[in-house]
Amino acid sequence: MCGIIAYIGSRYCKDIIISGLKRLEYRGYDSAGIAVISSDGVHDKNSNGCRIIAAKQAGKIKDLEESIRDMDFDSTIGIGHTRWATHGAPTQINAHPHLDCSGKIAVVHNGIIENYAELKDELIRKGHKFVSETDTEVLPHLLEEYYEGDMLLAMQKLLKRIKGSGAIVVLNSDSPDEIIAARIASPLIIGIGKDGNFLASDMPAVLEHTRNFIIVNDFETIRLKKDGVEIFGGDGRLIQRESFKVNWSITSAEKSGYEDFMLKEIFEQPFGIKETMRGRLTGSELQFDELNMSEDQIRKLSKIQIIACGTSSHAALLGKQLIERWARIPVEVEVSSEYRYKNPIVEENCLFIAITQSGETIDTLAAIREAKSKGAKIVAITNVVGSTVARESDSVIYTHAGPEIGVCATKTFTAQIIVMYLLALYFGKVTGKIDAQRYLKIVEELEFIPNKIQLILNEAAKIKKIADHLYKYRTFLFLGRIFGLPVALEGALKLKEISYIHAEGYAGGEMKHGPIALTDTNTTVVGIIPKDFVYDKMLSNIEEVKARHATIFVIASEGDTEIHKYSNYAFYVPSSIEELYGILTIIPLQLFSYYIAKNLGRNVDQPRNLAKSVTVE
Ligand code: G6P
Repeated sequence: MCGIIAYIGSRYCKDIIISGLKRLEYRGYDSAGIAVISSDGVHDKNSNGCRIIAAKQAGKIKDLEESIRDMDFDSTIGIGHTRWATHGAPTQINAHPHLDCSGKIAVVHNGIIENYAELKDELIRKGHKFVSETDTEVLPHLLEEYYEGDMLLAMQKLLKRIKGSGAIVVLNSDSPDEIIAARIASPLIIGIGKDGNFLASDMPAVLEHTRNFIIVNDFETIRLKKDGVEIFGGDGRLIQRESFKVNWSITSAEKSGYEDFMLKEIFEQPFGIKETMRGRLTGSELQFDELNMSEDQIRKLSKIQIIACGTSSHAALLGKQLIERWARIPVEVEVSSEYRYKNPIVEENCLFIAITQSGETIDTLAAIREAKSKGAKIVAITNVVGSTVARESDSVIYTHAGPEIGVCATKTFTAQIIVMYLLALYFGKVTGKIDAQRYLKIVEELEFIPNKIQLILNEAAKIKKIADHLYKYRTFLFLGRIFGLPVALEGALKLKEISYIHAEGYAGGEMKHGPIALTDTNTTVVGIIPKDFVYDKMLSNIEEVKARHATIFVIASEGDTEIHKYSNYAFYVPSSIEELYGILTIIPLQLFSYYIAKNLGRNVDQPRNLAKSVTVE
């Protein structure tokens, strides 16, 4: 986690860095810092007249901004960092940048130095003075050891000494015309601007200045100047790499009048879904060229393995239901953090799919590396062009939800789900396992989904009213079956992530095997009960908790005139075919969590202890 930004150019850098850090705040928000190179004009034989000025602050970026409001940061070269603590508490002293003993080298870092304890001992023995509890602080001291006039060479030596992960960015007051950086496993991009160049953890951080980017790969080192950039491979050789242009707009990375990014992103879902379907579903024709698989290869598939974390794993679970139903190919879903350590079996003719909105989740990355090393073919489903998972996979299916800033996933989830619908249908068609009439019906219904979601969003006030009644409950059980189960899991995850209320998602039929013991007058049960083939079964499950005095809130489908007899509160989604309720029923639950959290005064965009992109284990 953690977010990094750096700028060198002809403009003053302080505002560029602060505004970039605000856009990166979703990556970590417990403390932040900035360092610039400033010239005091006093030249002597030991100094070029330049020095590092740094400031750090525990808390949010606005606290850092406030603390440096009156400080002189007039400089055109600087670095910034927003932290999500891994080693050492989120204090001012542990915040980045970290400096070497001379105060000439300042470093920001996103990642973990696994062998820092051993390096720290070695450096202390050599006389280096440490002030923080962080792993990162070994980096400026190591660079101080290795520096002999060219910081890039020092960085290349450093990369050979450290174990772990990191995007590392360095200022050196001896060289005020360059920023040096490196990457091992943590994301780092270069932004090429008109009046200067940037380094950042992701593109939205600098989207207001440029849309031209270059991705940095593992073990590469960078020399960034105001009018150019040099990229060196792990072997030290200069690499030529063209920049590419992204079509994300800056408004897509701003709140545009919404109170929070989360709310804005919930409302952007009809658009994200249309964009994700565009070019893949035309009339009744499905196209998946990006899969890079022949129809014959698809027909030969004996199994599909999907790995993912968090919300993405719920998209995977829905995908499993759909693929097994329409294409009759067995699907296994596993969370990436478990997969990577279990010595997985990779069978021939098994397709491996990784779902990750960021494309940077370290566990998912490690899982695909593990599977790849055993010969698996990897298909990635991700929202971020050029992300590490995208680059390391054999083929990539991009969701086109636009940048997601709120920590909890909303629009990227429904975009992932749409890909799962399309892919499952495509597999069904190629394998010939789906009935032709059914196929046409589903395709027709998919076209209506963005409009139906819009209808749900138009009724947000109704959900707010229900949330206003229920926000004081301390236990929520979300129940669903088949297509409703991933929705129940995701509904519970949303609620706990942003409201800090205890919430669990369960298969309706499993209720009697434990969770029913939790049920009393302090419990709200949220039932996902659209009119599908498990409707009656879900009604029985709801009867059981109603008899135990739980308050019942159901997500039902339009035209259901019976459900109010079973529930205290009901929200109706537009009617559809049973498989597609999977996407429709999650929308009211996203809004429900949002309004509950707002009632409780929570920061929905940056919930405590969480980060958007988990790039450490
Ligand atoms: C973090 C985020 C979750 C997200 C998960 C997986 O935990 O807070 O919202 O679902 O990472 O992220 P990915 O980018 O791999 O989908």
